[in-house]
Amino acid sequence: MSILEGNKTLTLIGAGTMGEAILRGILRAGKLGPSQVFASDLRADALVDLGKRHSIRTTTDNLEAARAATVVLVCVKPHQVGAVLNTDAMREALSGKVVISIAAGVRLQQLAHWLPASALIRAMPNTPALIGEGMTALSRGKGTNDAAMAFALDLFGSVGRSAEIDEAQMDVVTALSGSGPAFAFLVIESLADGAVKMGLRRELAISMAAQMLQGSARMVLQTGVHPAVLKDQVTTPGGCTIAGLSKMEEGGVRHALASGVEEAARAASKLGQG
Ligand SMILES: NC(=O)c1ccc[n+]([C@@H]2O[C@H](COP(=O)([O-])OP(=O)(O)OC[C@H]3O[C@@H](n4cnc5c(N)ncnc54)[C@H](OP(=O)(O)O)[C@@H]3O)[C@@H](O)[C@H]2O)c1
Repeated sequence: MSILEGNKTLTLIGAGTMGEAILRGILRAGKLGPSQVFASDLRADALVDLGKRHSIRTTTDNLEAARAATVVLVCVKPHQVGAVLNTDAMREALSGKVVISIAAGVRLQQLAHWLPASALIRAMPNTPALIGEGMTALSRGKGTNDAAMAFALDLFGSVGRSAEIDEAQMDVVTALSGSGPAFAFLVIESLADGAVKMGLRRELAISMAAQMLQGSARMVLQTGVHPAVLKDQVTTPGGCTIAGLSKMEEGGVRHALASGVEEAARAASKLGQG
């Protein structure tokens, strides 16, 4: 049985870009009904619009929303999380409840310091969640049981794929999957630049590059075949593909992408430290 069956409530604290994207996915997938969602944010005018868009209850009082909650999704900016959670009233309101934070760099240990009596989950979604194609990694803290974790995985499954990871891997996941869309956009732009240089219209070049990348990514996910094998399958001896690949290798594309992820993971490990 889902931990949110019946008339239980999911409270969203911070209804900005990511918060609304996740909310939209959850409602669209029918995981919860609008009457089971309560959103809280500082911006009263934006809340009115949000409430109308999704037919959900809203408030500017985080505490009121937290008290009504069974599960809380914290979607404020990382530097705002302490101010939201670190009060005696909030500790009491969230005691015994499941609290999921998507704030980058805010560790489970920090969350447990603020909310020692809550079941904590740290999540790292990414921006393709805005179109239901996200990738969310989730780590469980002390006191989070399998049912709560399964619920959280299912919740984020409504905006793409979700997977449980150990928190020790959160920095590399932040780099690969959180920062990853920016890397992919750079690749799309660069491939399109090459095509424009060879005479293709910019708009067509961008849409072709994006569709090609989407199709290739889906092939990897759907077939489960290693990308190197799929690459070899389209590389005719003496053909144009191998000519293009060797030029890219000459430019160090493989090393540039891999070390970009490495560097982003290093930077992610420093997030939330002062
Ligand atoms: N965007 C991404 O790619 C991405 C990926 C993974 C994780 N995340 C995480 O997602 C979180 C949200 O990011 P976002 O891009 O959605 O930010 P956002 O659009 O700024 O949304 C945050 C919302 O929280 C509100 N807020 C601020 N302080 C509050 C408080 N004390 N109580 C209630 N609401 C409050 C903000 O209002 P104001 O605008 O008035 O401050 C804003 O509406 C961040 O922690 C980020 O690390 C984002």
